[in-house]
Amino acid sequence: MLKLHIFKGSYQCLLYPVYPVSTIMNMLCRAGQIRRCAASLSHTISQVTASRQKHTLPDLTYDYGALEPHICAEIMQLHHSKHHATYVNNLNITEEKYQEALAKGDVTAQVALQPALKFNGGGHINHSIFWTNLSPNGGGEPQGELMEAIKRDFGSFQKMKEKMSAATVAVQGSGWGWLGYDKESGRLRIAACANQDPLQGTTGLIPLLGIDVWEHAYYLQYKNVRPDYVKAIWNVINWEDVTERLQTAKK
Ligand SMILES: [Fe+2]
Repeated sequence: MLKLHIFKGSYQCLLYPVYPVSTIMNMLCRAGQIRRCAASLSHTISQVTASRQKHTLPDLTYDYGALEPHICAEIMQLHHSKHHATYVNNLNITEEKYQEALAKGDVTAQVALQPALKFNGGGHINHSIFWTNLSPNGGGEPQGELMEAIKRDFGSFQKMKEKMSAATVAVQGSGWGWLGYDKESGRLRIAACANQDPLQGTTGLIPLLGIDVWEHAYYLQYKNVRPDYVKAIWNVINWEDVTERLQTAKK
């Protein structure tokens, strides 16, 4: 058995039984290598933590007023620059706290931060998809493989619209209606999520098209008549973006 003791900054070896000097030197060298390796790893982790990119609010590719008359400029301006920006800011704050908790090995703090991570992370993910799902040149019907998949899984484009509209209007309180892709079955699915629950993180479906039915998304223009807002939003759906998301999801 070999015992190593640190005494006044140096190793002393007590050997039971006695090992050859060369073996002892090898063991001491290996101990030194492990210490240096651990120090290097710690330094690398610190660098990665310090250089972590913060999330930022994505720019819109169209003006706030470009979706009128279906979604007014005031809604779009507040929705993007205030509501989405708040999710981004709070996600960054939550991630910083989470990193601190990880560094301390504080599992209780990590668990306590998970609802904030889900809410603000989901808010950032969902809205980032939502802006690209919309376009001033949108509306109409999808083409190609997306249309074929809709007909196969819902019977017709009109039936898909009706089913998704109904599921979206029926969301209790705040949430989202989704058209998603089920990678296991290769089928399209309609789903609804509460609050800012991200579709893929909570259901496994890959998000293709989302309709935000938080009141901040429509109340200034449509007041309490959520069905009118959901009916109108089909006029600005960017089917090219939805098709690209399907193509990516299928890979
Ligand atoms: Fe929203």
